[in-house]
Amino acid sequence: MSNKKNTSSGFNSSFGAIMAAAGSAVGLGNIWRFPYICGKYGGGAFLIVYFFFVFFIGMVLMMSEFIIGRRTRLTPGRAYSALRPQHPNWRFVGLFGLLTCFLILAIYLIISGWTLGYFWESLTGILSKIPDEGFADHFKFFASLPLRPVIFTVIFLLFCVFVILGGVEKGIERVSKLLMPILVVLLVILCVRSLTLPGASEGVAYLFQADFTKLGSEGVLAALGQALFSLSVGMGVMIVYGSYLPVDDNILKSSMWITLCDLLIAILSGLAIFPAVFACGQTPAEGPGLVYQVLPVVFNSLGTVGRLFSIFFFLLLVLAALTSAISLLEALTAFLHEKGMQRSTAAVLVSSLAILLSVVASFSFGNGILSSFHIAGLSIFELLDKLTGAVLPPVCALLTIIFFGWFMKKEDIRDELSNHGTIKIGWFNVFYYFLARFVAPIALIIVLVTGLL
Ligand code: PFF
Repeated sequence: MSNKKNTSSGFNSSFGAIMAAAGSAVGLGNIWRFPYICGKYGGGAFLIVYFFFVFFIGMVLMMSEFIIGRRTRLTPGRAYSALRPQHPNWRFVGLFGLLTCFLILAIYLIISGWTLGYFWESLTGILSKIPDEGFADHFKFFASLPLRPVIFTVIFLLFCVFVILGGVEKGIERVSKLLMPILVVLLVILCVRSLTLPGASEGVAYLFQADFTKLGSEGVLAALGQALFSLSVGMGVMIVYGSYLPVDDNILKSSMWITLCDLLIAILSGLAIFPAVFACGQTPAEGPGLVYQVLPVVFNSLGTVGRLFSIFFFLLLVLAALTSAISLLEALTAFLHEKGMQRSTAAVLVSSLAILLSVVASFSFGNGILSSFHIAGLSIFELLDKLTGAVLPPVCALLTIIFFGWFMKKEDIRDELSNHGTIKIGWFNVFYYFLARFVAPIALIIVLVTGLL
């Protein structure tokens, strides 16, 4: 087993690092999941709780993970025990996070395969020929096909592997710097069109009007799970990206930019989707139904421009998913590389295992051949979705924040926050350290206990 540090390469600049980490954060969670969860749990009411979790827990975790990563230049598999050699069991927190990454990657690959498939169908005009009432069946048929979605998933994954093999700076950083601005432009175009449709205000109201009766403890747990999932924190991906951060990167400032960018894109996605849904007389659906059944009807009702918007939208979703899937694959690849495996072998091995799990899970979706197989009353797909959405990330996050706030040496934290004494530690740093020690762990425990019970 080699003792290789995870520093064979790193991000070239703070801007590149911010783009790559924002690329990890902005993904299906923002565009696909956030809008419908927000609508479902009471719009503005959900948003208030969500803001709290994003800034007081999510961003705290991002800062903590960056610090752990940059301090050790190791992946989560080794970073915890390197900081606490006298308590080697902490490494299980890192391994648990990596396992969560693997499960998220599997579910991500399924949805990305569908999305790439729908992008292809909008490009070739297949979607525009389907009558409004036919989309539900079309999606079920498409998702249950044994081969077609898998082919799209494999194409998607091959691209991710290709980027990873390009290296951290020449692959991940370069692709993120290119894709993130394209993504923002596409989203803004979609938003402007959606908000200028007659009747759009009903969609805006659905997103922002606060209805506290819909929130409940389930909504609060969903907000927490979503905040962590959306910021890609708690699983150790940001520890890996932290290990690539330049020495002079201002960690707290970068965490703030990434968090703001992620939040803004989630809100813009809601503004791109709901006004159009309501303006076209549709009702918002939950989960896959919204993107693959309701939105195509909306696009078709907009005529020729609609076809263009359909292409833009599915492209947007594919690009967002790409940089997130790349970060998950990179975390797992870097972990195996640290263990002594070649990067290319590691990337291929992780991809093969992830695709295997995603094929099994996708067969359990809809009318697939494994759809009648249930664990704890849930199909494999539903189980993965639940575990990776609301259960595992908060548990991993709690353990990480306890480690950071209570077991990591204060001098190490101070040294990283001040970039080895070259920048001043201001009240903002002190406030965030206070959040990490007290507010975040207590809030996480309360929400986890009430939500899971
Ligand atoms: N943050 C991504 C999203 O919002 O879609 C998903 C994700 C990526 C979660 C990487 C966790 C992770 F480690």
